[in-house]
Amino acid sequence: MTVAAADFRRAMSRVPAPVTVATTVDRDGRPWGFTSSSFGSLSLSPPLVLVCLDHGASTHRAFTTTGHFLVNVLADGQSEIARRFATSGIDRFGAGDTEAAEFGLPGIPEAVVRVACSMYRIVDAGDHSILIGRAEATHVADRSPLVYVDRGFVLPGR
Ligand SMILES: Cc1cc2nc3c(=O)[nH]c(=O)nc-3n(C[C@H](O)[C@H](O)[C@H](O)COP(=O)(O)O)c2cc1C
Repeated sequence: MTVAAADFRRAMSRVPAPVTVATTVDRDGRPWGFTSSSFGSLSLSPPLVLVCLDHGASTHRAFTTTGHFLVNVLADGQSEIARRFATSGIDRFGAGDTEAAEFGLPGIPEAVVRVACSMYRIVDAGDHSILIGRAEATHVADRSPLVYVDRGFVLPGR
């Protein structure tokens, strides 16, 4: 038995998820980033997190050949950043609102949480690659996180 794609999408769209922007820099020094709601905690010992990336994404090569990546968990008021890092064919860094953070990777100021990772393993599953990162450093700010549910951005408790 296999669920229809539309039913699967509808069910998963009702599951609240974090809104993050994962970033990295390639060997030529070019920054890459994409909006991801598939971020999650995987293991405590060692401290592992995961992000899932579509095989067809323009960022796939950069993220599957890098040694490090940074996950920025977006906050209240940052839905425009989430939309920009999900938009194809634009310069996502053109607004100049990122700054060098852990490992020199593009960080989003005012993010609720940053998790700086070394690449631990990449597992291909279906049409995505699971990027498993070992958390090397974390940064936490006292702000409210954005949540993605029903294909929209909401704030917890509102
Ligand atoms: C809220 C939200 C969450 C997303 N989460 C993911 C994700 O977890 N993994 C992924 O591969 N793409 C995700 N996307 C889509 C990417 O941000 C991006 O649009 C997609 O990779 C196409 O970009 P490309 O032009 O780089 O190919 C998400 C988009 C939005 C708006």
